[in-house]
Amino acid sequence: MAEASPSAAASVAPAAPSVPNPLAGFDPGAVLPSPTGLPELDRVLGGGFVPGGVVLLGGEPGIGKSTLSLQAARAVAAGGASVLIVCGEEHPSQVAARAARLGPVPPTLGVVDDLSVGTIVATIEESRPQLVVVDSIQTVRVDELEASPGSVTQVRASANALVAAAKATNTTVVIVGHVTKDGALAGPRVLEHVVDTVLHFAGDRHHELRFLRAVKHRFGPTTEMGLFEMTGEGLQGVDDASGRFLTDRRPGVPGSIVVPALDEHRPLLVEVQALTPANGDRAPALTAEGVDGGRLRLVSAVLRERVGLPLWGHDVFASAAGGARVSEPGGDLGIALAVASARSGRALGDDLVACGELGLGGEVRSVPHLLRRLQEAQRVGFRRAVVPASCPDGPAGLQLLRVGELGEAVAALDLVPKPQKAAVGVD
Ligand code: TYD
Ligand code: MG
Repeated sequence: MAEASPSAAASVAPAAPSVPNPLAGFDPGAVLPSPTGLPELDRVLGGGFVPGGVVLLGGEPGIGKSTLSLQAARAVAAGGASVLIVCGEEHPSQVAARAARLGPVPPTLGVVDDLSVGTIVATIEESRPQLVVVDSIQTVRVDELEASPGSVTQVRASANALVAAAKATNTTVVIVGHVTKDGALAGPRVLEHVVDTVLHFAGDRHHELRFLRAVKHRFGPTTEMGLFEMTGEGLQGVDDASGRFLTDRRPGVPGSIVVPALDEHRPLLVEVQALTPANGDRAPALTAEGVDGGRLRLVSAVLRERVGLPLWGHDVFASAAGGARVSEPGGDLGIALAVASARSGRALGDDLVACGELGLGGEVRSVPHLLRRLQEAQRVGFRRAVVPASCPDGPAGLQLLRVGELGEAVAALDLVPKPQKAAVGVD
């Protein structure tokens, strides 16, 4: 059954065999990354750009892709390397104005605005830059094709030609590509398997924080997250991510707790807040902002059914403060305690974090990298942590409150609301 059909075998013309090269004879150093000079970018790239490596930088329009790639280009050129920017989105004078805002412009940083891929490839072969930024893939074109720039045909053909040029000349190429929120514009998606690295730049446009994550990376792990802040002088790397999210926290407010969350493998301490205003005598309407709506529904159901928290007649709002996002199950326990704290009107201690997944039975389950999260909490100055019963010993100086069930945590933290005399047991 599995035999190749004679016609398929016949369609492969006989050829001379190739001679295998000993793998040990290749130089692993040829793909060593060299730092870009932007530490948060290097963190995600596993050290920096690799010669001949092709990076797709995707994200929604306006998120900061041009700014990030320009800053990377400037930083690499500042080290004396020759760098080329292909600017299809903006006039070179606009790029120059933006570059000048970031500081002195290195003389080895060049621009071209000829958007023919044939010309770009010839330029790379002739001038042999160390780094080329193509901003964006939607604006360049292969002249031989009828299709208009930005079409899937053009995007794919352009990227293939750029990848071939990168490999032939050992040039690092950064391809900028716009992606809409729902990924509807499939342009960059069709490129993901052609390039070595796919970076996604994201953030709330009404907020200054920007998250850089590797979706695919042929030269290293995809487990790091880079954090930036968009300022008047371009993107600034945020070194102390946890501190950044907690700066505006107000102590002693009911409905607030800190969750040692993970973004990729990077621990982030995020304040989760809840509010439970009365809504008359109606079922709770749930609103989630920065936390996952599905997890908020699950947490609310567990609070009602397993802990007996009276939520009837109250709406439930839950949010992650400061533009952060907690969508992993490790945030469940924190969200539950924030809601219980809001409902009972009792503030949780400011030195407390909580981390654990909730099961539908009300049980508190372990989450990945719990120790790493607790170490980060301890480093930032937290002293107590509510954790699953199975949690191993944490770092010195962090007192663990181990709980098997959500009800134990609610009781231990004194969050059971006082029964209201007028209530007629609707819950
Ligand atoms: P941009 O890099 O042009 O986004 P993209 O290439 O992803 O479309 O950046 C867009 C926004 O960033 C723009 O609205 C202005 C803002 N911005 C700053 O706030 N500070 C700066 O220094 C720069 C260069 C841009
Ligand atoms: Mg742009």
